[in-house]
Amino acid sequence: MSTRTQEDFLKGFHAERPAVTTEVFAAARAAGARTGYEALRDRVADRRRVLDLGCGDGLLLELLARTPGRRLAGVDLSPRSLSLARRRPGLSTAALLEARAQRLPFRTGAFDACVSHLALMLMADLDQVLAELSRVLAPGGLLVCAIGAGGGGTAYELFGELLPQALAGAPAGRRMPALGDRRARDPEALGALIAGAGFAGEPEWETVTVDIGGPPERVWRALSGMYDLAALDTAALAWPRSGRPSAPGPPPSPTRTRTWTAASACAY
Ligand SMILES: C[S@@+](CC[C@H](N)C(=O)[O-])C[C@H]1O[C@@H](n2cnc3c(N)ncnc32)[C@H](O)[C@@H]1O
Repeated sequence: MSTRTQEDFLKGFHAERPAVTTEVFAAARAAGARTGYEALRDRVADRRRVLDLGCGDGLLLELLARTPGRRLAGVDLSPRSLSLARRRPGLSTAALLEARAQRLPFRTGAFDACVSHLALMLMADLDQVLAELSRVLAPGGLLVCAIGAGGGGTAYELFGELLPQALAGAPAGRRMPALGDRRARDPEALGALIAGAGFAGEPEWETVTVDIGGPPERVWRALSGMYDLAALDTAALAWPRSGRPSAPGPPPSPTRTRTWTAASACAY
């Protein structure tokens, strides 16, 4: 699948649902009661110039902006998501740019850290993305990426079982293409890529489990926001007026999603 096709799909998806990720993950807490966004914020607490790669509607940048004196930037493919980010009062001085991670519009050594929440695993040409990150990070700069690692529990299992049936009649042109580079999810392959891009040392991996469970309607909002379901029209994804899921089988139940976090010091 070409990079262009993948990126057009993402842009089209987020044109319709520009805040879909924060709708789910802003309330999803890990043990210790932090959200995934707060966990990333804390990893770069001592860094002043911070880039958010695939910043979406800017929630993580807004958390980072609460530390005075920071210089913040965000890039994203989606103009709709960026327009929401620009409306956040805390981001009036942040540079929020429509750009591709594979070609960053910043000078060499511009940042002390880069964070990326649930975006790196969607990016094609990962070698090029990491080369760009290595370039824009100053010596000793930190790269912290949270990567979706799938779910568990009955809601996800049910979702996986029902997916082929739900998508059977959907138009081929709206179907989700294969997205990203599978090496983003593989510690060994990612380690080799990171080293090849000029970062120092092995990336550190941490598994964070965040709870996206709750009442069935909330679980459905999380599942129905997944890229897989883009092929269905809005009516098919609406929560039934009766308040009960229309899918056969047991209703969705509280479930969890895992997030991998990789951190690496940039080359000295
Ligand atoms: C799942 S959303 C996460 C958004 C945000 N980081 C959050 O967690 O709320 C993934 C984001 O990555 C962006 N994205 C994907 N590939 C990209 C690329 N190659 N360059 C820039 N942004 C990209 C998408 O447009 C989308 O906004």
